[in-house]
Amino acid sequence: MNILVCQATEHGSTGRIAALIAVRLRAADHSVVMRTLTTRDAEQLDLTCYKAVVVGSAIHHGAWLPAAAEFVRRSSDALAARRVWTFSVGMTAAFPSPLRRLAANGEQRPLAELQQLAHSCEHRRFSGAIRPEHIGRPGRVAFRLLGGRYGDYVDEQAVEAWTDSIDDALREDPTATLVGRSAYAGYGPVGLASPALPALRSSSPA
Ligand SMILES: Cc1cc2nc3c(=O)[nH]c(=O)nc-3n(C[C@H](O)[C@H](O)[C@H](O)COP(=O)(O)O)c2cc1C
Repeated sequence: MNILVCQATEHGSTGRIAALIAVRLRAADHSVVMRTLTTRDAEQLDLTCYKAVVVGSAIHHGAWLPAAAEFVRRSSDALAARRVWTFSVGMTAAFPSPLRRLAANGEQRPLAELQQLAHSCEHRRFSGAIRPEHIGRPGRVAFRLLGGRYGDYVDEQAVEAWTDSIDDALREDPTATLVGRSAYAGYGPVGLASPALPALRSSSPA
């Protein structure tokens, strides 16, 4: 099956996760095209030849990066006619769990709205890598005060297990589209939203 795996990244973790997904799907005999989304893709990306789309984005300030969000908004009709899976990459795993729960509410709504527009049959959240140089000085101070720990939190096994579930779903019913299935089933584990990190928010590039 022809599958598009596309993503928007700032520091590379989302691209790495997308590459893991693409390699795994290819190993399962799918024909996979990988794409890093830019804001121009929102208008130009033609989905005609793809039966399924996996789209992901890094999370900044509790939301998807503009390139991925715009792609989903403008391609919503085309995505409705395809099998779609979505994933988000944040830094949840870098923080103590009480903080993750505290911050969850601010992030859920904007991400959930986007998954609906994408007609995503499943959204999964992964953690990426967070390094001091990714955030400005005020952000680093806030990160430390909140108990954050820098590191690479990409869980390759979790990504591969999710990819296998996509492959299983495609094999079970290769022709299924949104009709007859839930428009939005499942939101992954809650993440860390920007309201908990005001200093980190203000340190980000525009
Ligand atoms: C400016 C900025 C804002 C961020 N905001 C959030 C956020 O609101 N929630 C979250 O879980 N992670 C947030 N992160 C962490 C990134 O999503 C995380 O580092 C992820 O691995 C980035 O993916 P990338 O390497 O593909 O860019 C933020 C990172 C930066 C640099």
